[in-house]
Amino acid sequence: MNILLIGSGGREHALAWKIAASPLLTKLWCAPGNAGIAREAECVALDVADHAVVIEFCRRNSIDLVVVGPEIPLAAGIVDDLAAAGIKAFGPSRLAAQLEGSKGFTKDLCREFDIPTGAYRRFDNADDALAYVRAQGAPIVVKADGLAAGKGVVVAKTVGEAEAAIAMMFEGGFGAAGAEVVIEEFLSGREISFFALCDGETAIPLASAQDHKRVFDHDEGPNTGGMGAYSPTPFVTPEIHDQIMARIILPTVAGMKQRGIPFRGVLYAGVMLTEQGPKLFEYNVRFGDPECQVLMLRMMSDIVPAFLAASDGQLKNFDLRWFPEPALTVVMAAKGYPGDYKKGTRIEGLDEATQIEGVEIFHAGTVEKDGVILANGGRVLNVCASGRTVTEAKQRAYEAIDRIRWPDGFCRRDIAWQAVEAEKS
Ligand code: AMP
Ligand code: GLY
Repeated sequence: MNILLIGSGGREHALAWKIAASPLLTKLWCAPGNAGIAREAECVALDVADHAVVIEFCRRNSIDLVVVGPEIPLAAGIVDDLAAAGIKAFGPSRLAAQLEGSKGFTKDLCREFDIPTGAYRRFDNADDALAYVRAQGAPIVVKADGLAAGKGVVVAKTVGEAEAAIAMMFEGGFGAAGAEVVIEEFLSGREISFFALCDGETAIPLASAQDHKRVFDHDEGPNTGGMGAYSPTPFVTPEIHDQIMARIILPTVAGMKQRGIPFRGVLYAGVMLTEQGPKLFEYNVRFGDPECQVLMLRMMSDIVPAFLAASDGQLKNFDLRWFPEPALTVVMAAKGYPGDYKKGTRIEGLDEATQIEGVEIFHAGTVEKDGVILANGGRVLNVCASGRTVTEAKQRAYEAIDRIRWPDGFCRRDIAWQAVEAEKS
């Protein structure tokens, strides 16, 4: 099969690595890709926002399957346009991608289908939103309705902070994404990511993971796209796993089907494990980044038949096998991220780092120039490792990091601390 992968992050490097291992693959392309992906795929500088260009490329290269990594092309309807051109693509349609593209859409779906989530209201003007937060009090969560590159959520500890967030969003702080705002009950508990593969009718669980969204150790500093992850998380016990499938994932798939917009692709549930059980606080319609990196290390089965079965509505009798060993990834980012940072700084020692047992390095924002790897983004590398325990995977990943020479980069030193603590007891 000829496959085109869309994206350029660590998630896509992990997907490219996994797809490249499939015996079904003839050739893999990636648009636009990065220096690490270039080892697994031919990278092509397509403008993926121009769907006609992507369709033309697929026709010219006899592409049998397109795999879409990030949410922006999904929300823009790339899967619909490819399907209309007779090209199979893995991922949700534009309307199904509203599960990520509109927080209000998801909250309304939860209400209609009795999916556990925080209480909420939707607002299209600041005055009503301000009156609501003053009546509710803090802590409270203010969310821009639309896609805001992972930055559209303010967890307000005080009413003042909530008021400021409302003002900022309605003044256009997130552009059109903030024209509508959802105000949601603050949920307390442990936060986990749960992934399921869906074909419009059936959902099969992939795995659980825990992301680390804050930039600094001890969960301090601003939110980022994710500074590290590990899978599986011990906090998703078999009982909680079953509750998440039965109360959150399956009713969502059934609800979307009932609404006439079946969901095909990866459903990524952001779940808070509260005292009243698991509650959904957000959906994404794609693999998480960096969670995908650890999921790919743990997946034993060939991923290509899984993509095909999900796209073709054939997941019913499908089975995926996993390595039981945990996997962990630490993100190395350019100093200054998630604020301003320099590009073009030199990274050395990657080959020495990958020699450590169980270690795999996925590139996020890199380019290669004259045989040298240069940083080309905020999140730059994912140093991943498997191990018999999370503790061992963590030791291996940090040993690898210590061999990487990149003075302009940094990472968190405490990825998976909660699981490591749990393994001690
Ligand atoms: P998001 O950008 O949607 O991933 O949300 C950013 C972060 O906000 C999440 O990772 C959660 O930690 C937090 N969050 C979102 N909704 C809630 C909520 N209802 N209660 C508490 N925290 C939340
Ligand atoms: N790791 C968070 C995300 O992919 O949205």
